[in-house]
Amino acid sequence: MKKILLIPGDGIGPEVVAQAQKIINFFNQNSDKKFETSEALLGGIAYDKSGTPFPQETLDAARLSDAILLGAVGGPKWEVLEYKHRPERGLLGIRKELELFANLRPAKVFAALADSSTLKYEIVAGLDIMILRELTGDLYFGEPRGVKTLEDGSRQGINTMTYNSKEVERIARVAFDLARLRGKKLCSIDKANVIETTEMWREVVTEIGKKEYSDIALSHMYVDNAAMQLIRNPKQFDVMLTGNMFGDILSDAASMLTGSLGMLPSASLGEKQKNGKQYALYEPIHGSAPDIAGKNIANPIATILSLAMMFRYSFAYDKEAQMIENAVENVLNKGVRTADIANSSDKKVSCEEMGNEIIAELQKL
Ligand code: IPM
Ligand code: MG
Repeated sequence: MKKILLIPGDGIGPEVVAQAQKIINFFNQNSDKKFETSEALLGGIAYDKSGTPFPQETLDAARLSDAILLGAVGGPKWEVLEYKHRPERGLLGIRKELELFANLRPAKVFAALADSSTLKYEIVAGLDIMILRELTGDLYFGEPRGVKTLEDGSRQGINTMTYNSKEVERIARVAFDLARLRGKKLCSIDKANVIETTEMWREVVTEIGKKEYSDIALSHMYVDNAAMQLIRNPKQFDVMLTGNMFGDILSDAASMLTGSLGMLPSASLGEKQKNGKQYALYEPIHGSAPDIAGKNIANPIATILSLAMMFRYSFAYDKEAQMIENAVENVLNKGVRTADIANSSDKKVSCEEMGNEIIAELQKL
């Protein structure tokens, strides 16, 4: 029995997580794999109900679970709050507390959607890249940070980009290991021509590559060039390794190659502990989309594919993970679309209907 903690969060979060819950129920009823789910609060809803975006009970429940599935956090309602009360602090808090340093963001183009990208068909058809983003360091957590008022009355903002070589080593190893299971190509992203921290990053990655992964073709690219290359010729990449800040930006860019932000899953993994336990949180890379929340039109596919990643990476249920991915593919091949990926000729369905369509496909597999 695997314990899954569901954290629906804000905006469209509850709608998309509800569809993933249906898939979990499907496997409980129709397979020998059994799951027990519980729910916890995080983000704006947690602040409203308990005065903090990251309640202690949520952290306790997270530690006890085998894996976490998160919807999304945030919304305009909470943007006026003091920094420490904002929904995003909850998300960053759970990532940091569980030390989920390795963020896998695969960008894969489903054949049926290659036409939906804003880029030409031949540029994106067959695309399959993996962005590995470091998730617990960099500008996101570096100290000193904050905004202070100077003597002359002007204000100064400070954030610190910082990495320790050990942090770079451990994320680099994850990247090389991923590359080994894929196309054996790794491109490490930095801004080594300007930012010393990333020059060190480049040196450490190079060193690990030389010593431990001579079978992987390692290259390096400045982040500005990488942004351009992702649009120009994304299929040149296999695994891209980035720091926290650059990865945040590049992964949003990469998501549009696949047709919609609503399609991309992610996994955030901690280090494997001696007792075999490894903290892991799975979430769509899209946000809470407050403008469409409550309308039952969100795309649940990113969350459902995040569940597939959970099956694969946390439970080694490869067969069931593949079943979910095949079911999604079949539904898309039938022309069934949520609003974000629909053309005029497509069958447009609601968030709930998309969940049901995927279950109907699962039933046939
Ligand atoms: C993401 C999001 C988060 C981030 C926000 C919501 C804090 O953009 O997961 O990419 O910046 O990491
Ligand atoms: Mg982001």
